Amino acid sequence: MPKTSIDDTKLPAFTFVLFGGTGDLAMRKILPALYAAHREGMLAAEGRIVGVAQLRLDGHAYLRWCDEHVRPHLPEPLLDDATWRSFRERLAYVWLDASQPEAFVALRETLGTMHGRPIFYLATGPSLFVPICRALASVALVENSRVVLEKPLGHDLESSNAINDAVGEIFAEDQIYRIDHYLGKEAVQNLLALRFGNSLFEPLWRREWVENIQITVAEELGVEGRGNFYDQTGALRDMVQNHLLQLLSIIAMEPPQSMDADAVRDEKLRVLRALKPLADDGIRQNVVRGQYHSGAIRDTFVSAYQAEPGVSAGSTTETFVALKVEVENWRWAGVPFFLRTGKRLAGRLAEIVINFKPVPHSALGAKALRPGSNRLTIRLQPNESIRLSALAKQPGIGMTLQGVHLDLAFDQFFTQGRMEAYQRLLLDVIAGRLALFVRRDEQEAAWRWVAPIIDDWTTRDGEPKPYTSGTWGPAAASALLARNNACWQEEEN
Ligand code: BG6
Repeated sequence: MPKTSIDDTKLPAFTFVLFGGTGDLAMRKILPALYAAHREGMLAAEGRIVGVAQLRLDGHAYLRWCDEHVRPHLPEPLLDDATWRSFRERLAYVWLDASQPEAFVALRETLGTMHGRPIFYLATGPSLFVPICRALASVALVENSRVVLEKPLGHDLESSNAINDAVGEIFAEDQIYRIDHYLGKEAVQNLLALRFGNSLFEPLWRREWVENIQITVAEELGVEGRGNFYDQTGALRDMVQNHLLQLLSIIAMEPPQSMDADAVRDEKLRVLRALKPLADDGIRQNVVRGQYHSGAIRDTFVSAYQAEPGVSAGSTTETFVALKVEVENWRWAGVPFFLRTGKRLAGRLAEIVINFKPVPHSALGAKALRPGSNRLTIRLQPNESIRLSALAKQPGIGMTLQGVHLDLAFDQFFTQGRMEAYQRLLLDVIAGRLALFVRRDEQEAAWRWVAPIIDDWTTRDGEPKPYTSGTWGPAAASALLARNNACWQEEEN
C-alpha cells in the first residue's frame, strides 16, 4: 500500500530564524525538535538555524549556550556526541533588540550568506510580533519567506485581530503559520485517520448514536515558574480557546474533500462557527472555573496557586475550566460536548471519550441499557491508544454481561518511533504544508466564542471554585455533568 507520510518527500533548504532563540521554548522544544529532525536525516544539508535574541552573545557563545541549555533537553536515546557536533554546525546567532528596526540590517546580512527560504519563528511575547514583522519588511526579508506565530496570539478577540491585521498587511495568509502544538500530536493526526480512513465509525459519528463526547486535557504540573504570565492568562485562554476547541473541531468536522490545507480548515471553521453561543445564565450553568489549592501530587505536597511565584495576591485567575458545549448543526444538534482542562489534577492525561447510546431495548438485562457500555476512548497522551469498549457474555451458565475492551496501543503496534509534535510541525513549515496550522478565521471564531465567557468573568463578581491539588477539579464540574445525566469517565462505578 502506498504510504503518505512526511518522510516521503525530501525537504527543501531553509534558513530557520528563531526569535526568542535563548528562551524557554527554544531550549525545551524548538531546538530539540530540529535536532531530532537533523538526527533522522530529514533536513537538507544546507539548512541553517539562526538564533536571534537580546542576549549579547557571539556565535561561539551561542553554541556554548546550546551545549548548556539545549543538550540537556534531548532525550537520552537520541543523544550522541557526533550528531550533536554536526547539528551545531547548522547553528548561528544574531544578537539584536527586536524592538529596534535598524538592528535588522545585521540579520539581513547574515541571511545573505545562507541558502534556502527564510522561516521566521516568533517564539517571543505577542507584543513583539508586529514590530518584528514590520522590521523584517523594512529590510526586505518578507518576500518568499514564512512566519510562524507561537501562542498566545493576543489576549482576546480584539488584540488577536489587531495582531492578525498588522501581520496580514505584511505577510500573505499562506505565509503565516499559527502554531497549535496539539495539532502536531501523532494521536490527533490519528483521529483524522480513524475517522476518514475507515468506514466503520462514520455511520455512528452523529447525534443518532452518540450520547455525549468528553474531552479532557489534565495536567499534574502547576504553573511551573510561569506565574506572571499565567496569572494574566488563565486556563480558558491558555488551553480552551486553542487546544481544546481545535480538538473539538477535528472530532466534530464533516469529512473534508481532501487533506488539502484549506479543505481541512474550512470544515473545522464550520464547526467553530456552529458552536452554540453562551451568554449570562448560559455561562453560569455551563461553565465551571476553578483554582487549585494546596494538596498532594504523587504523595508530594504542592502549594496553592495563590502561593506560586508571580501570582498576585487574591488572584481570581482560573487554573481549571469545565464546559458543556453544543454544536448547532444537523449532525450534532443536542449532543453535549463536555470539555475540561486544569493544572494540578489527579493525573496527566489527554483523552477524548465518545460515549455511544445504549441499545433501545435490552433482552439481556439492565446492563445493556446503561450509557457508556459502548464507548470509544482515544488517548492522546501519555501512551497513545484507542480503546473500544463493548459488552460481552461472561463465561458460564446464564447470560451475564460484562464490559470488555479492544485495545490498540500504538507503541506496541508501530515499531518506528513517533515524532514529537513540534518536530512534525516544524517539518511541515519547512515543507510548506499548512493543514496543521490554524487559519486566521478559525482563530477568530474561537476567540469570538470564548469572548462572552471572558467578559462575564471580568465584569461579574465571583471567584473560581477551589479544588484540592491532586483531585479532578471542583465538585461543580461533576455537578455540571450530573445535571445532564452524565458523569466523567473516572466517576463511573
Ligand atoms: C501549552 C500551555 O500550550 O500547553 C501550557 O501554555 C500547557 O500551560 C501545555 O502546560 C500542555 O501541553 P502538553 O503538550 O504538555 O499537553
